[in-house]
This record gives sequence, structure tokens and C-alpha cells, in this order.
Amino acid sequence: MEFDSSLLLSGHPSKMPPPDIDRKLFESKGLIGTNDLTSWVGPWGISYTANITSDETGIGNWTEDQFLLCIREGKWKGQKNSRSLMPPMPWFTYRLMTDGELKAIFAYLKSTKPIQNIEPPIVPPVSAPHQQ
Ligand code: HEM
Repeated sequence: MEFDSSLLLSGHPSKMPPPDIDRKLFESKGLIGTNDLTSWVGPWGISYTANITSDETGIGNWTEDQFLLCIREGKWKGQKNSRSLMPPMPWFTYRLMTDGELKAIFAYLKSTKPIQNIEPPIVPPVSAPHQQ
């Protein structure tokens, strides 16, 4: 395996298939991350690291307030009425950063090379009751 720094911060590649593992086993036992660290399986199902580059498929169109809301309240896309961020994104510790620290991180993310990539949506756990 080789580390591909050209894809840094761009999240789970949209065309990469879901992890080939026994999901029932891992969802019941704890947490597993794939070797590229972009897919995570646990009791919540599967989460995929998000594209946080400056591209419009990442945080390119976000405002600073959106980023603060995303990290402070754990809200997907920094929207008040969106779903909660899934593990292992550690927003509940990052939310303790000062406004100045979070704004500095956001300014850095805005300065990154734009990489176009839409990560796959989260997947519910295999044990979740089927929706009607
Ligand atoms: C300073 C470091 C970090 C920053 C600035 C950051 C930023 C973000 C942002 C802004 C999102 C939301 C993206 C969106 O709503 O489209 C996100 C999602 C995510 N992050 Fe982080 N993150 C950091 C560290 C981490 C770490 C250490 C992990 C894993 C160990 C992680 C895993 C994830 C995952 C899995 C998601 C997707 C969650 C979901 O779809 O519900 N992040 N991150």
C-alpha cells in the first residue's frame, strides 16, 4: 500500500466499494477502520470520511458560521436541521476549541487544493429494523 498525498482531505473516494468485511461481527464488537482510514464500521453502521477540501463538493461553498455550527453541534454540512455527524468524527472534543482556533482551521481548509469527490452516504447498521 502506498500513501497518496494528492488525495489528502478529500474523503472516501466515491467509486471505492464498501468495506468487504463481516459487518454483523464488527458492528456488534466495536469499531474497525479500513486501511486507508476512509471507511469506518461500528454499531452506527458505516461512515465515510468527508471531503473537506476547498472544492465545492467539499467545504468550498461553506461559510465560516456553517463550519462553526458543524463542529460545535456536530451537524452534517453545518446545517441546523441536518443529521448528526457519525463516529469516529470527534466533534464533541473539537467543539471545545476557541472560535479563533476553529476559524484558523477553516481558513486553512479553504486554502487547500480543491479535489472533486462526493463521499458515499452513511449506511445504517445491518441490525437496524428495516424501514417500512
Ligand atoms: C482537525 C481535524 C478534523 C477536521 C477539521 C474535521 C472536519 C470534518 C468536517 C467539517 C466534517 C463534516 C463534513 C460534512 O458535513 O460534509 C467531518 C466529517 C467526518 N470526519 Fe472529520 N475532521 C477532523 C478529524 C477527523 C478524525 C480524526 C476522524 C476519524 C478518526 C474524522 C472522521 C470523520 C468522518 C467519518 C466524517 C463523516 C461523518 C458523517 O458522515 O456523519 N475526522 N470532519
